[in-house]
Amino acid sequence: MIHPEVHNTVSLEFSAMARAKSVGGEKLHSLGLGEPFWPAPGAVRQKLSEIALSEHYGYKSPFGNQILRQSIAHDVTAIADARIEAENILVTAGAKQALSVVFKTLLEDGDEAIVVDPCFVSYRPQVFLANHNAKIIPWSLTDDFSIDIEALKALITPRSKVLVVNSPNNPSGGLISAVEMQALVAIAKNHNLYLVCDEIYRDFVYHGATFVSANAYRDIYDQIITIDGFSKTYGMTGWRLGYIVASKEFLQNAVKVVQHEMTNVPEILQVAACEAFNLPDGWFEQYRSVLERNVDHYNNALEDISILKTAPIKAGMFCFPKFDLGDFTSDQVAVKLLHSQNVAVTPGVVFGKDWDSYLRVSLSSPEDEFHDAIEKFATFFRTFL
Ligand SMILES: Cc1ncc(COP(=O)(O)O)c(C=O)c1O
Repeated sequence: MIHPEVHNTVSLEFSAMARAKSVGGEKLHSLGLGEPFWPAPGAVRQKLSEIALSEHYGYKSPFGNQILRQSIAHDVTAIADARIEAENILVTAGAKQALSVVFKTLLEDGDEAIVVDPCFVSYRPQVFLANHNAKIIPWSLTDDFSIDIEALKALITPRSKVLVVNSPNNPSGGLISAVEMQALVAIAKNHNLYLVCDEIYRDFVYHGATFVSANAYRDIYDQIITIDGFSKTYGMTGWRLGYIVASKEFLQNAVKVVQHEMTNVPEILQVAACEAFNLPDGWFEQYRSVLERNVDHYNNALEDISILKTAPIKAGMFCFPKFDLGDFTSDQVAVKLLHSQNVAVTPGVVFGKDWDSYLRVSLSSPEDEFHDAIEKFATFFRTFL
């Protein structure tokens, strides 16, 4: 039975409304969903087309393709300066399935998941789908979307089992600093919590900000689990490839979920995805720099609009401005924006009722399209009545 708190992703419904408009022939400026504007790397696609014709793929290991696991381990080792081996990697059908596998492996009846708020829309449903009788304890970020460690400590009870964080954060554009990460690891260690850190936007950092992986603290504390995937950096959302980085002991249990639910992630996709690790160093810079310029453009275009306040955009694919428009809800503002300017954004209420005076704006568009969309977005707030 599906838990009553598990709803459809409203952002998908809203974007269906937006799509209907564009099907009607109108030019739509989409700042809604978290889709990279770039395609999957040519080498990955080329490999897929070659092996589709020449190879046969049957059932395979539920842990994932060994070469892919080694490549991921090598990559994570480089990022986190920690010794990660192929046996620390479990390949999943997207970061979403990685999260679901983690929650299914961990959560018993009555266990509490402390979940960063605001957060990616699937965290809460996934907790309840994993265990109907689990509890969510929302943990609010501060007004500028940084971390309040004391507020976090106050939420922990003997039933707390996992602490779920996301850095860079969707939707806020926040980033966990080294000091904050160290504090989170210490809290997890002292209270015997699993620290689950979703790092899917790890390559999306701006203006010299530094991404800190929770994996860097694995020597201090073993119950660290990170989530990542190919969707964002590699523009491979449709491929559904993600992975968990965790202790070998944890993965021996977690793999049972993959084994019994899907046997293995399609091997043909995994073999093709290995090519992503042969791309030249700095390959992603061409896209990261566009996103960074989009951040600058956003800040410049909106700085004189006092009814809109945006916390510093340090990282990730989104920003999360707060509007001050009296009683208007985020849904009403988003619908008005869509109808009057053909600009689609995600209403903040999608992230919970506390975020009903926010809008999530995606940074992921080619520069010229982003400029057009932001000009209309700014006009809307300048002329809002
Ligand atoms: C924070 C976060 N985690 C996970 C995901 C899911 O990624 P995937 O496409 O790999 O399932 C998303 C997608 O938008 C996301 O924003």
